[in-house]
Amino acid sequence: MDLCIIGSGYVGLVSGACFAEVGHHVVCVDNDQRKVDALQAGKIPIYEPGLEDLVHRNVAAKRLRFTNSIQDGVDSSQVVFIAVPTPPQVDGSVDLTYIERVAREIAGVLKPGEYRVVVDKSTVPVKTGEKVADTIRRYNKGAEFDVVSNPEFLREGCAVPDLMNPDRVVIGSASQKATDLMKQVYEPFRAPILVTDVNSAELIKHAANSFLSLKISYINAVAAICEASGADVEMVADGIGMDKRIGRNFLNAGLGYGGSCFPKDVKAFIAISKQLGTPFKLLEEVERINAAQLNRFIDKVRNALWVLKDKQIAVWGLTFKPDTDDVRNSVAIELVNKLVAEGAHVTAYDPKGAEKAVEWKLIDPTKVKLAPTPLDAVKDAEALILATEWKEFSNVDFAEVKQSMHTPLVFDGRNLFDPETMAQFGFTYHAVGRAG
Ligand code: UGA
Repeated sequence: MDLCIIGSGYVGLVSGACFAEVGHHVVCVDNDQRKVDALQAGKIPIYEPGLEDLVHRNVAAKRLRFTNSIQDGVDSSQVVFIAVPTPPQVDGSVDLTYIERVAREIAGVLKPGEYRVVVDKSTVPVKTGEKVADTIRRYNKGAEFDVVSNPEFLREGCAVPDLMNPDRVVIGSASQKATDLMKQVYEPFRAPILVTDVNSAELIKHAANSFLSLKISYINAVAAICEASGADVEMVADGIGMDKRIGRNFLNAGLGYGGSCFPKDVKAFIAISKQLGTPFKLLEEVERINAAQLNRFIDKVRNALWVLKDKQIAVWGLTFKPDTDDVRNSVAIELVNKLVAEGAHVTAYDPKGAEKAVEWKLIDPTKVKLAPTPLDAVKDAEALILATEWKEFSNVDFAEVKQSMHTPLVFDGRNLFDPETMAQFGFTYHAVGRAG
């Protein structure tokens, strides 16, 4: 099929590459000419395992191309996906100005007699599909189209496998013609397809992300009880997670959830529920626990070091999770900045995220030293904090780490290390929700 994806960010670019990989012809549209130029030159603006090969292979096979022209994209495609950002506003509600503008732009290029399915892939509040349809109709009275909601569930760091093998594909549609075309789009993925009405599909995305955030806050609250009672949150998570009704996934205690989705989507769902007159108070508690989690962790570091001012602290990890260079809303960065604000001297190392953290001005390189390796970061450190669970941190030579440090004190914010091994190496080891 011929598909157009408007917006070449995380969701748009990975979806476009995966649709091309299964044989569709895909044109990715972006209004950022520099991004289009870079993509046309084979440069991928984000780090995502497997993505670069996928893009190069499909561009070479002429199944994937990039343009800045919506006209070109819409003219050459049966299905037009909208995958533009939906950032949060100050009050937590979603800023839909990009979606509205794209809807007008699509209206401006739709030709009479040429039916198109317009698909909302961005995460949007319930009832946005209705507004997109109204807008297109308002700006193009004769347009023949249907609006479908098709939320995306990919995780950064494993976006390609998530897209190629989805647990489910949700198609929110009120038109049989549009549903049939969407089923053809997804037929090669051989995944379960759930067809719903448009509003339900939109709600599924916010409800799913909020539920996953709730799971994380739940286990983090249990971790606090474990610390107070001498129990081990990893054992508790295994024990409750073995119940199939609960499941072990997303029960990893740590510094709390971050990234460009969960914090924003929980806030948005709270705002939507209020607007609809059915406030979702449980989610406010989810947010409160998430914020408290980092502060509790910093308290632990402060308790061990007495004062943080002038302490040499190494931090491993800056990205919001491993296998990505994304540092947006990263708890690791928040941690670094809080330590710096208390006067600590922080040296940080991250395999992929350091450059963007500086480029996007999330950390101040005059205040935070960036080390080229994990070992360089721990030199003379009075404490080491693991903030993001990159695999490579499990494989460092801990004898060397201990030798390099001023004091062998480790705070594991993601429960990556084995307490017994750390004790054998001679570290004083603190983790989350387990005896340290
Ligand atoms: C999340 C969802 O998992 C995707 O299904 C969804 O499509 C995506 O948001 C989105 O809305 O676009 P993502 O933000 O990429 O994906 O990353 P996750 O793997 O979900 O992690 C989010 C945060 O939760 C990270 O900070 C991670 O460290 C934290 N987390 C995750 C925990 O603290 N504990 C866990 O057990 C799992």
